[in-house]
Amino acid sequence: MACTHIIGTGSYAPSRVITNHELEKRVDTSDSWIRERTGIQERRQAAPDEATSDMAVHAARRALDMAGVAPEELDLIVVGTITADMPMPSCAAFVQAKLGARRAFAFDVGAACAGSLYAMSVADQFIRSGQVRKALVIGAELLSRVVNPDDRNTCILFGDGAGAMVLSPGDDAERGILSTHLHSDGGLAELITIPGGGSRTPMTEEAVRARLNTLHMNGREVFRFAVRALVESTQEALATHGLVPGQVDHVIAHQANARILDAALERLEIPRDKCWLNLHKYGNTSSASLPMTLDEAHRAGKLQRGQVIAMMAIGAGMTWGSAVVRW
Ligand code: UT7
Repeated sequence: MACTHIIGTGSYAPSRVITNHELEKRVDTSDSWIRERTGIQERRQAAPDEATSDMAVHAARRALDMAGVAPEELDLIVVGTITADMPMPSCAAFVQAKLGARRAFAFDVGAACAGSLYAMSVADQFIRSGQVRKALVIGAELLSRVVNPDDRNTCILFGDGAGAMVLSPGDDAERGILSTHLHSDGGLAELITIPGGGSRTPMTEEAVRARLNTLHMNGREVFRFAVRALVESTQEALATHGLVPGQVDHVIAHQANARILDAALERLEIPRDKCWLNLHKYGNTSSASLPMTLDEAHRAGKLQRGQVIAMMAIGAGMTWGSAVVRW
């Protein structure tokens, strides 16, 4: 069966830079702590009049330009996000309208930091089934609106951004998205939550006062779980294709924490220099990070035809997964 090909990539980061030094003035932290514990030096923050779909559209236009695909040709738009413009309708609906992608059906996937990997997998299945020929996959996140600026456990980590890819069926069965491997464990849902604003705890004044509308995270537990999950899922993906770590040319990973990636790569026996890192510039941009990273590596000319790319991501839910792509 012919594989789905990634025929265009794009990304967008807002211009406002928030350095570690700026955060030092706001919470009890230090540039050295943040660098040593996370690898992050700065992150981006969207403008007050910017919404998630605005960032998504910037990234999408770049990916569509690269692919040479007009918005009217799109059959499907899937956006991985947990910070849509509003609770309803989906972020994808706004993206569709702004792009003028009239033929596409559009929806969001809520898998937090694994969102774009989930979205890519969903689009891949639609393409493999023959129902869709051109799909736009986006990961877009405006986390600065949901992070508590006074919580040093989280405000140092997260940033805003968007990444996109255009997918289409390819003639070459040896290249493209060879497989995706998705996993969830809802038993660990409490590890990362935005507890207020849903049906359990509606957005009341009291809920906002208690900051229940912001992101809460047990960082230490997430860290421990993330390393194991990323390793197991990547091993599963490689084994599916009879690949050994030495055959991996690039790792394109969700950028959560440089130490998480270091630990996972060490256990996978994949050299660190095969993993494209940009979290020093953008922090953890949740679902945006994987397609932003792919776009950077691609535009830097690093991805050569035929090379093996291992993708991996993990997020709230818990959700995680991997993919093998032959470029
Ligand atoms: O994208 C998927 C979702 N999220 C993640 O992947 C995040 C995963 N977790 C992490 O990246 C790390 O757990 C953090 C970066 C969040 C924290 O790093 P850590 O090495 O796990 O630190 P810790 O939570 O074990 O805390 C160590 C110490 C604590 O002080 P005590 O109890 O040892 O006195 C914290 O209170 O560091 C303290 N601490 C800080 N100190 C300075 C926590 N945050 C900060 C901070 N600045 N920003």
